[in-house]
Amino acid sequence: MKLTVVEVGPRDGLQNEHARVSTDDKVAFVDRLSAAGLPVIEVSAFVSPRWVPQMADAAEVFAGITRAPGTRYTALVPNLAGLDRAVAAGVQEVAIFAASSETFSRKNINLGIDDSLRVYQAVCDRAAAAGVRVRGYLSTAFGCPYEGEVAPARVADLTSRLMDLGVFEVAISDTIGTAHPGQVPRVLEPVLARVPVSQIALHFHDTRGTALANVLASLPLGVTTFDASAGGLGGCPFAPGAAGNLATDDLVYMLEGLGLETGVSLAGLSEASAFIGTRLDHPLPSRYAQAVAALRRSRPGVRPDPEGP
Ligand code: HMG
Ligand code: MG
Repeated sequence: MKLTVVEVGPRDGLQNEHARVSTDDKVAFVDRLSAAGLPVIEVSAFVSPRWVPQMADAAEVFAGITRAPGTRYTALVPNLAGLDRAVAAGVQEVAIFAASSETFSRKNINLGIDDSLRVYQAVCDRAAAAGVRVRGYLSTAFGCPYEGEVAPARVADLTSRLMDLGVFEVAISDTIGTAHPGQVPRVLEPVLARVPVSQIALHFHDTRGTALANVLASLPLGVTTFDASAGGLGGCPFAPGAAGNLATDDLVYMLEGLGLETGVSLAGLSEASAFIGTRLDHPLPSRYAQAVAALRRSRPGVRPDPEGP
């Protein structure tokens, strides 16, 4: 079985970093991810540069990257201004991002949920007219940093409202990394009663170390698309307590070990992670990346996973 890994490192991974990563380094990071065979790469976000200064160079990054045939390059857009900037930069796929909880919606995009969906309807309509595909995110689906628990019925309802806007897929997102394997079917089953599983992706942050286990818990439900970030970077500036995304390195290692094909070269991915790690002021959270780095330091030339994929 083939799974789709959506690489969000250049966007979710870098949007919260204190170190200033240059545009050239972002381009080099994306190009390394392309070379590693990632099928979908979220390159940047056309959001307000005042709200998220780390993404201010979205257009320049798109102008610099070398697009690999068959790879999809996407970006977040919060409104029509963001969509127009993305279209002007030659972006062919964008993502809108709604929330399951009112407070997080207001903190993140300065709009309540209903108002945000009205804005996103306009974004989807204009994107369709421009031939641009739109993905949807649904944040705080497993819990909100401000409001706590979120009812699964609400997640299902909002997923279906996002689908009605015309998105091709909804990434059900654990913004702050509180999800656990017991919760995954409780949240997903009502969603899957309303939306085909082929249109559902999962986006886990790994704050409590449960992201890989959550993926494993979702496989029997038929989910085949997972978001992850090279090196395990990530976090949302408007979600206190959120740590990095599920690490792509750890995800690909596990999936390939299970015999599930991703088309991603783990060696190439490790190289991309190690590269961006040299541009940051802290070690990479990914356990796989840490293991590779430790082996390279102590036993140069030894393969990281002699019996692995
Ligand atoms: P606002 O201040 O309410 O916006 O922010 P506004 O419409 O009142 O405009 C204010 C100024 O911003 C104006 O400029 C606009 O032109 C400008 P001024 O006249 O003052 O000079 N502006 C823009 N500039 C560039 N690009 C734009 C844009 N829009 C307005 N697109 C806004 C509202 C939505 C813009 C703001 O709140 C924003 O940008 N929020 C984005 C927040 C964000 O990026 N969060 C992180 C990503 S979401 C995430 O990480 C979760 C996810 O990973 C899934 C998960 O884990 O849950 C996806
Ligand atoms: Mg995220």
